[in-house]
Amino acid sequence: MSAAEAVASERAEFLRDALAGLSGEAKTLPGKYLWDETGSDLFDRICAHPDYYPTKREMALLPRVAAEVAALVGPGVSVVEFGSGASRKIRTLLDALEAPAAYLALDISGAYLEAAIARLAPDYPAVPMIPVCADYSKPIRLPPGAAAPPILGFFPGTSIGNFTPEQAEGFLARARRTLGPSHFLVGADPTHDPARLRRAYGEAGGLMPALHLNLIERMNRELGSNFDRSNFRHEARLADDPFRVEAHLVATRPAAYRLGDRTIRFAGGESIRTDTSHKYAPDTFRALASAQGWEPVRLWVDEDSGFSLHLFRAP
Ligand SMILES: C[S@@+](CC[C@H](N)C(=O)[O-])C[C@H]1O[C@@H](n2cnc3c(N)ncnc32)[C@H](O)[C@@H]1O
Repeated sequence: MSAAEAVASERAEFLRDALAGLSGEAKTLPGKYLWDETGSDLFDRICAHPDYYPTKREMALLPRVAAEVAALVGPGVSVVEFGSGASRKIRTLLDALEAPAAYLALDISGAYLEAAIARLAPDYPAVPMIPVCADYSKPIRLPPGAAAPPILGFFPGTSIGNFTPEQAEGFLARARRTLGPSHFLVGADPTHDPARLRRAYGEAGGLMPALHLNLIERMNRELGSNFDRSNFRHEARLADDPFRVEAHLVATRPAAYRLGDRTIRFAGGESIRTDTSHKYAPDTFRALASAQGWEPVRLWVDEDSGFSLHLFRAP
């Protein structure tokens, strides 16, 4: 497939998903579309904001974890990171691992991924770096020969929480097939404190609203729709069963917009759910992963937030 054909096919899929999500009773858009270059840049700034606790807590935990992970997985591992973003957290692991054989960084945000690897590679000249632009909500085949056993999968942040529990099970099963016999280090966040969650997911200095509102602009730019960004405001809502934080874009007044060959109508106050972050207690997440064949090896928990890093093994 040529690059132009790939872009056309991605946009056709985006249009299909947007039409399906915005035509139902409860409007929704898949969170994976937040991640164009602007979205990735905004998230990088969110990570640096004091109110976005998950990055800070995981970065505080990782140095303590990395040496133990290195001892448990042994020398010469190929590391495969899912949703690698700015590829910052991986530095702590690469510094601790003994002679890592390769780093495969997998992300849906293609240009941003290439730039992140270009920044990282000069600091690790002995480690082959392979950017893989792919959607991990689908089956993934790594480039042939790129990752030989032993393999360490890495899924940091709270990205596992962006799946529903059923989708998370599907992802963990797919990751087993992609990685084969391997270890897998996965981050999960159990935070339930409403004030902390609202600061992190509702505001983060206005950066969180900007990340979600960018989706309106991305639709207009890539799908030729005519949504009015100024009619939407971002809101973080807490919900139960299972506990989660939902991001919504709320239409402040009634409106009708063009998308493809359809008209999408909003009542005043009606919203689009643009992302969800499920919060997992360590035991709940361990049980979910175990059911997909990931044997628990070790668990590390951040004392301040309860943020946890789980090391699993697939025989
Ligand atoms: C919340 S950010 C986390 C970035 C980084 N791993 C961290 O912990 O700071 C989510 C990352 O996953 C990527 N991503 C989101 N959905 C994806 C998908 N379906 N397939 C591949 N990458 C995805 C985004 O582009 C983004 O870089």
